[in-house]
Amino acid sequence: MKPGMALLFRSSVDSAARWQSELVRLSPELDIRIWPEFGDPSEIDYALVWHPETGLLASLPNLKLILSLGAGVDHILGDPQLPRGVPIVRLVDPYLTAAMSEYVALQVLRLHRQDVDYRIQQEAGIWRELPQKNAGERPVGILGLGEIGQHAGGKLASLGFPVSGWSRSAKTIAGFTTYAGAAGLMQMLGKTEILVCLLPLTSQTEGILCARTFAALPVGAAIVNAGRGRHLVEEDLIPALDSGQLSAAALDVFQEEPLPPGHPFWHHPRVLVTPHIAGITNPATAAPIIIDSIRRCEEGRPLVNQVDPAQGY
Ligand code: GLV
Repeated sequence: MKPGMALLFRSSVDSAARWQSELVRLSPELDIRIWPEFGDPSEIDYALVWHPETGLLASLPNLKLILSLGAGVDHILGDPQLPRGVPIVRLVDPYLTAAMSEYVALQVLRLHRQDVDYRIQQEAGIWRELPQKNAGERPVGILGLGEIGQHAGGKLASLGFPVSGWSRSAKTIAGFTTYAGAAGLMQMLGKTEILVCLLPLTSQTEGILCARTFAALPVGAAIVNAGRGRHLVEEDLIPALDSGQLSAAALDVFQEEPLPPGHPFWHHPRVLVTPHIAGITNPATAAPIIIDSIRRCEEGRPLVNQVDPAQGY
């Protein structure tokens, strides 16, 4: 890499010190500037970001590449001043993918083994065995068949769950039943007892977890949302839980993060809340991927995992 290349680091999560040491270790010649005191904006060549503020990227006139600190890029594409023509790459880190699959497996097993009901029983001091299905009788449907959806589906299939997957465009994946398009979604929902959302957030997927979707699931189905908060129409969830249409929801992402104090999800006995930790980006495994993208850009080689802004991922 040419000496003097400057990278702006901007994250809403407190991870700058760990990122700096990993990036410097791999590429000592990289000049790392941590937001907000990053000097002359015209000196910045690369921006490594998570939830950059509106207009930040547009203020960097010589920006060559935008690198996402996460797998999703809605936090970048949502900026109305996003500079057109500057390529964007999403982070595809096998360790992050595996972490997401762990979260999905954890929640699917909790829902399958009725852990929500056993916690409610424990709270009331009740010792009672509930009827239990086998994994093979508990169909799981995955929304989103990108790297993460496919990986998580494979793990669930190996635990014995019948796995289906839905994506915008048709895909064939060994070991899964796949569906595509609006009609395909309704078909899959009708036979899904645990619905897992791993979609990217786009104008087409926003609000996909809504009353209509819940009504298409069999009574007593459960949902897992590890996509984005805006996939879920939050006001539709509590009525679906309270009517028994849904038995539980495991949510890692929310319309507003941190989830505001007093939000009904905090204390609902059938909602499992985690603070957006399903796939935490680990600088030790992600930094080599970031450096590889910068080197590709410097050397004029093709980028990997480049985002198509028109598609939204
Ligand atoms: C986390 O939400 C990510 O996009 O990686």
